[in-house]
Amino acid sequence: MPSDTAGSWTPVALSADLPPATVIPAWTPAGSIALWRSQSGRASASSDRCPHRGMRLSHGFVRGEALSCIYHGWSYSPAGGCVRIPAHPDLVPPDTIRVAVQRVEESDGIVWVAAGEPAMPPPRLDHLVPIRSLTLDADITAIEAAAGEKADAGGLIQVADCPWVRLLPAAQIACTLIHVLVERGRGVADRVTASRIAEALRRRAETRQKDVS
Ligand code: FES
Repeated sequence: MPSDTAGSWTPVALSADLPPATVIPAWTPAGSIALWRSQSGRASASSDRCPHRGMRLSHGFVRGEALSCIYHGWSYSPAGGCVRIPAHPDLVPPDTIRVAVQRVEESDGIVWVAAGEPAMPPPRLDHLVPIRSLTLDADITAIEAAAGEKADAGGLIQVADCPWVRLLPAAQIACTLIHVLVERGRGVADRVTASRIAEALRRRAETRQKDVS
C-alpha cells in the first residue's frame, strides 16, 4: 500500500465492481468502511457504523446522492452529515449527527481510499488494465512467494512466469485482497489466461500459508 508519514492509500475495489447506486463493505488500516457510489457516479467511503444504533452502513442502500441505513433509514451525504431521519421528516438533522468519512480517489479503474491524510495522490497505473479481484487466505509474503517476485515500490507484484500480469494487493484482517491487472493492449484471451493464472496462484499461496502456520 503506498504510504507516507501522513497516511496511506488502499486499493479497496475495482471501479467496475462499484456501479452507481450501490454500497459494498471494504477495509482500510483505518477500519471497516461502507464504500458506495451515488446515483450520479461519485464514490465515497463512510465508516461502516451508523451513528444511530450501530448498524453496518454497508448493509444499507443508496438513494440519489445519499447512503441510507437499513435499520431506521437515517441517510448520510458523501461528506458524512446526516441529511434525513424518516421518523422525523420535518426535522433538519443537527450537524452533530455525522458518520466519519475517508478520502476517495479513483484512477485507472481502481478505487483508492485514504487512511490518514497522505500527502501524495495514489499511484497511476495507466499502463495496466484491471480485470478482477480475489480474496486470498494468505499474507503478502505468501503471495510474493507464489508469484515468484517481490512487490515493487508501488506495491505491484509481477507474476514471474507471466510478466505481463501484475497483482495489486491490499492486506485485510486475516486475508489479502488482490486486484489482477494486465498490460494495456492485451486481448480477451490473455485476460482469461490472467484470471486462470490468478486462481492457480491463489491455491499455491494458500497452501504455502497453511504450511507456515
Ligand atoms: S441504526 Fe442506522 S438508522 Fe438506526
